[in-house]
Amino acid sequence: MEYLTIALTKGRLAVQTLELFEKIGISCPEMRDGRSRKLIFADEKQKIRFFLAKAGDVPTYVEYGAADLGVAGKDAILEEGRRLYEVMDLGFGRCRMCVCGPKEAGERLLHHEQIRVATKYPNIARDYFYNKKHQTAEIIKLGGSIELAPILGLSEVIVDIVETGSTLRENGLTVLEEICPLSARVIVNQVSMKMENQRISRLIRELKQVLQEESL
Ligand code: PRP
Repeated sequence: MEYLTIALTKGRLAVQTLELFEKIGISCPEMRDGRSRKLIFADEKQKIRFFLAKAGDVPTYVEYGAADLGVAGKDAILEEGRRLYEVMDLGFGRCRMCVCGPKEAGERLLHHEQIRVATKYPNIARDYFYNKKHQTAEIIKLGGSIELAPILGLSEVIVDIVETGSTLRENGLTVLEEICPLSARVIVNQVSMKMENQRISRLIRELKQVLQEESL
């Protein structure tokens, strides 16, 4: 039997995903060793291997079939726009994609004035402003700490993830519009879905069952 390869998003999502997999009897103790520099971990009995990747890279590995499955945030899935199947909402990693800024910027949004938007998610921002709001926007891509942009006058607003809202609050910013809710999703390569249908379907079924039992 060949390995089923699963791409995980480095960080908190990976930790929560592995906890979930342990509940259906799939585990790699090696992966819990924080000091290890190893990149790929296998459950030899089940012939499943996991690897850790950056959020935006997970959909890429899955589209090309380098990973049969992946667990990624809906933000990364939307931003990358890859050809793949999104088959399941894992329910954790819940947050929202929002347009944020100082209160005053709300006026510019309301009146559909030309606006500058800083973001780590240029595709999501472009789609929202051009296709949904029909507002002319200049999208400025940044790598992180997006909240700095309106404070320093680089942009009027930002498009970013809001979880607790404390980053915004501590920097005098607020949610102006909500774009969409986000959470961790299971994604599947389109060819693997056909070739490994039995194993993948079983995996998804077992994951769904655990989540359902937990919600009761
Ligand atoms: C994300 C996001 C916000 C923050 C929101 O940043 O970009 O800055 O979390 O969380 P909160 O609403 O609970 O305060 P992340 O930690 O991923 O780092 P980044 O600045 O590199 O994007």
